[in-house]
Amino acid sequence: MDVFKLLFLELFLFSANAAPLAERLFMLSMDHIPTGPYYSNVTGNVTGWHSSPIWPAWWMNGDDRSNGEFDMFEAYEPNNHASITLHDWDQSLYGNCTMPDNITQYANSSGNAFGGITQFSPNGTSLEPFNKAGGGVYVMQWDHGKFIREWTFVKPNIPADILNGSPNPNPDTWGMPNAYFPFGKNCHPDTVNHMYLILNIAFCNGPVTEECKDIVRMQPEAFNETYFLINYMKAFCRPNEKCLTGIYGSG
Ligand SMILES: *[C@@H]1O[C@H](CO)[C@@H](O)[C@H](O)[C@H]1NC(C)=O
Ligand SMILES: *[C@@H]1O[C@H](CO)[C@@H](O)[C@H](O)[C@H]1NC(C)=O
Ligand SMILES: *[C@@H]1O[C@H](CO)[C@@H](O)[C@H](O)[C@H]1NC(C)=O
Ligand SMILES: *[C@@H]1O[C@H](CO)[C@@H](O)[C@H](O)[C@H]1NC(C)=O
Ligand SMILES: *[C@@H]1O[C@H](CO)[C@@H](O)[C@H](O)[C@H]1NC(C)=O
Ligand SMILES: *[C@@H]1O[C@H](CO)[C@@H](O)[C@H](O)[C@H]1NC(C)=O
Ligand SMILES: *[C@@H]1O[C@H](CO)[C@@H](O)[C@H](O)[C@H]1NC(C)=O
Repeated sequence: MDVFKLLFLELFLFSANAAPLAERLFMLSMDHIPTGPYYSNVTGNVTGWHSSPIWPAWWMNGDDRSNGEFDMFEAYEPNNHASITLHDWDQSLYGNCTMPDNITQYANSSGNAFGGITQFSPNGTSLEPFNKAGGGVYVMQWDHGKFIREWTFVKPNIPADILNGSPNPNPDTWGMPNAYFPFGKNCHPDTVNHMYLILNIAFCNGPVTEECKDIVRMQPEAFNETYFLINYMKAFCRPNEKCLTGIYGSG
């Protein structure tokens, strides 16, 4: 594997595949999201996809290819929103997922691009504006049979039950989510299943160009803001549900 393609700075791994229909919350509180330099050449900045050599992400991946992928947060382009994506990797098994056309009724998000499964949180909820505000909390709620919802809270707009460290935070009091993926006829609930959780920063992941590698090799000072400052990552499960089965060190 090309080290530039996938460099895991941190790796948290656990199985979250216990009882079907279990409702789970995954909460990541950060004071700082990694930002990086942008490519520039004689024409100016490269814009759009992969315009930075860094690609920070908080995501879930299936334990084999058929189990799908859910990306709670990816920053692979300069827009300061979180890219939130459901991947249906095995369409022969589960069919294709589609979003309701009227998604803005259910989520304060935009996008719906790339096969109808990516949603963007509002501008200002990631990268520099997130860091300037002193950080925030991303929360993903996965109710296996019903939906995945996500909120991207930026300080000072963090719900009180999260701030207070409540053992029973209540998503129904948090207002409109910033992404909403309903399961049912539009998307088979088992499209995402048997997931493990990953927090990582990939360097020069698509395209892996020499220009990109050179920036990483030769300009370390350009990456002085490329770090996560994490307060905590929490997983909430139903009482007696064994959802956190192990934490493994960095890989
Ligand atoms: C390139 O992007 C950076 C970061 O957004 C910005 O500060 C800089 O002015 C841009 N440079 C050009 C030539 O557009
Ligand atoms: C500079 O980047 C732009 C945008 O990606 C690209 O179209 C152009 O070919 C690049 N120019 C050079 C000289 O590499
Ligand atoms: C899912 O959508 C893709 C792209 O439109 C298409 O190529 C594929 O055949 C579809 N798969 C199923 C099982 O419908
Ligand atoms: C939104 O779209 C869904 C699926 O197309 C439909 O069932 C529902 O009635 C729509 N809701 C509203 C308020 O338009
Ligand atoms: C959506 O988010 C933007 C930016 O945070 C905010 O200004 C707007 O009021 C929100 N809209 C709704 C319907 O919550
Ligand atoms: C977010 O910012 C990008 C880049 O400035 C812009 O193209 C896009 O329209 C904005 N999206 C929203 C929902 O305001
Ligand atoms: C990184 O470098 C920039 C430009 O020199 C500087 O403004 C910024 O404060 C530095 N950040 C850190 C965390 O050292």
